[in-house]
Amino acid sequence: MEYLVCLSDGLYRVKSKKETCKTLTKGAVVIILLHFLIRFEQVREHGDFASLNIPDYDASLPPLPPEIMEDFPTTGIDKIPKIIHQTWKSTAVPQMFVPWVKTWMKRNPDWEYWFWTDEATRKFIADKYPDFLPTFDGYSQPIRRADAMRYFILYEYGGVYADLDVESIQSFSPIIKKYSCFLGQEPFVHSVLDTNFEHLVINAVMGCRKGHPFMKSLVEKLPLFSHMWHVLDSTGPHFVTLWYREYEKHHYPPDHVNGTYLAPAHYFFPTFDPAKSFHFHSQCANFQNLNQMGKRACIHLKKTSLHPYDMKNSFANHHWVHTYSLMFRLPLKGPEDIRDLVPGVKVL
Ligand SMILES: *[C@@H]1O[C@H](CO)[C@@H](O)[C@H](O)[C@H]1NC(C)=O
Repeated sequence: MEYLVCLSDGLYRVKSKKETCKTLTKGAVVIILLHFLIRFEQVREHGDFASLNIPDYDASLPPLPPEIMEDFPTTGIDKIPKIIHQTWKSTAVPQMFVPWVKTWMKRNPDWEYWFWTDEATRKFIADKYPDFLPTFDGYSQPIRRADAMRYFILYEYGGVYADLDVESIQSFSPIIKKYSCFLGQEPFVHSVLDTNFEHLVINAVMGCRKGHPFMKSLVEKLPLFSHMWHVLDSTGPHFVTLWYREYEKHHYPPDHVNGTYLAPAHYFFPTFDPAKSFHFHSQCANFQNLNQMGKRACIHLKKTSLHPYDMKNSFANHHWVHTYSLMFRLPLKGPEDIRDLVPGVKVL
């Protein structure tokens, strides 16, 4: 028996059964692949944790801390100078960062805004920390220099450092009236489902007074760790987490002049990285086999995918831009000069 399978050159062509089978199989493979691709995209974009077989609540698990805002003094001296530091290769800010960059002076109008180009950063290290220059120049990746420079700048000048993919939600002024040094932490679901840690310090937002001994410890330890294979360990979040734990042994109260305050994740990192959705989704699909922290994380993911976080108790929001998304993104408009974006910017 033969089937009519396609129309070609205006004539019906007849194919043998074997060929038809091949065609159908190929078609089916394409459809199945497409199905998985679309599914992957959906999960990647939206999380889709609501459809997983996860309880809404589990009384046997310790609850997550409430996402509230603590009390801050409204008067008194500033313990950290009112300077926002941001950095990029040059003064040409890629379009995708533009809306977020603009929020800093909008929400913190009485602050200074300092912008560090690669050239200015290198000059700063060469002038003030010449002993570190060989390590700085020897870093295998630009991201390591970007990590290192923030510790030196906060140690030398003080202020608040934020990556370009961080948006300011409300003024940082209350925080700097209370703390001399504050750090942010990864969203609970990141640290738990990625590394099985309850707290991981992240360096995308941090603020310190000038000359703080914790920043001093970071700048002093950098050369020892410069050869670590992974950037997270060498200069990034794992490096800071390690020395934060070490520094905690001093037992300074968080609001002490030498103290450090690890802010709750929702202050600066209220949303999780969509690029991790797929990975989290596959872990949560295996809910019954997770440990207590993992279960808590999955319940939290399900809850937040149903009711998105409103950010009223957040100071900033990190947008999790990865270098690869910058490479593959086709900007509709070109980069904008920081001097046009932030009037009064101090370009270093
Ligand atoms: C803060 O730390 C520095 C350096 O470790 C120390 O010299 C200073 O006495 C400390 N200040 C207070 C008030 O404890």
